[in-house]
Amino acid sequence: MSLPSNITWHAGHVNRSDRERVLGQKGVTLWMTGLSGAGKSTIACLIEQKLIAQGKLAYRLDGDNVRHGLNSNLGFSPADRTENIRRVGEVARLFTDAGVIVIVSFISPYRADREAVRKKMAPGDFVEVYVKASLAVAESRDPKGLYKKARAGEIRGFTGIDDPYEEPTDAEITLDTEACSPEESAEQVIQYLQKGGYLQS
Ligand code: ADX
Repeated sequence: MSLPSNITWHAGHVNRSDRERVLGQKGVTLWMTGLSGAGKSTIACLIEQKLIAQGKLAYRLDGDNVRHGLNSNLGFSPADRTENIRRVGEVARLFTDAGVIVIVSFISPYRADREAVRKKMAPGDFVEVYVKASLAVAESRDPKGLYKKARAGEIRGFTGIDDPYEEPTDAEITLDTEACSPEESAEQVIQYLQKGGYLQS
C-alpha cells in the first residue's frame, strides 16, 4: 500500500519508554496462531489473568470479538482474512507502542499475513506463539460445533477443512496443547516474558 500524500507525522512530547516506565513493563505483541479449537482463546485468557494478577497491563484482541466491531464488515475469503490480520496487526502495533502486553488470538492461517505484521514491528516486539493441535484433535474438541457444520457443508471455506492453515516455521514459542494443559501453556508464555525482560521497564 502506498503512503498517503499530504499527510505528515506529528510527534508528541512523550515516547514509548516514558509510557513503559509508567507501566513498569515493555510493550509486546504475543501473536497466538492456530486452528479453531486449538485453545488460543482459553490460553490467552489465562495469560491475561496471570499478568494482571502480577500488576502488568495486558489486553486481549480475540478474533471472534474483534469481528463483532472493527472487523464486522469482513468475512472469511482469503482477501478478507488478509485484511482482518492487517487491521488487527495495526491495532496490536499501536497497543505495543502504548506499552501494553497485547495478546492477539486469531487463527491467522496464512504465513504471509503473519510475516507482514512481524515485518512492521521492531525485533522483539512481535512474539509468534503457535498454539499447536492436530486437526484431528481440534476437530474432536469442536467447542463451537463449527467443524461439524463444515463437514456437513453448512460452512464453506473453514480453516483446516476446505481452507488452508499454514503452520508457523519460526515461531518464538510453540505450545503443545495435546501434551500440556492450558494452565501449563499459559505459564510457558509467562516464563518467556520473564526471561526476555518484558515484565520490567
Ligand atoms: S482468521 O482466519 O481471519 O484469522 P479469526 O480468528 O478472525 O479468523 O476468526 C475465526 C473464528 O471465526 C473462529 O473461531 C470461528 O468461531 C469463526 N469462523 C466462522 N467461519 C469460519 C471459517 N470459515 N473459518 C474459520 N473460522 C470461522
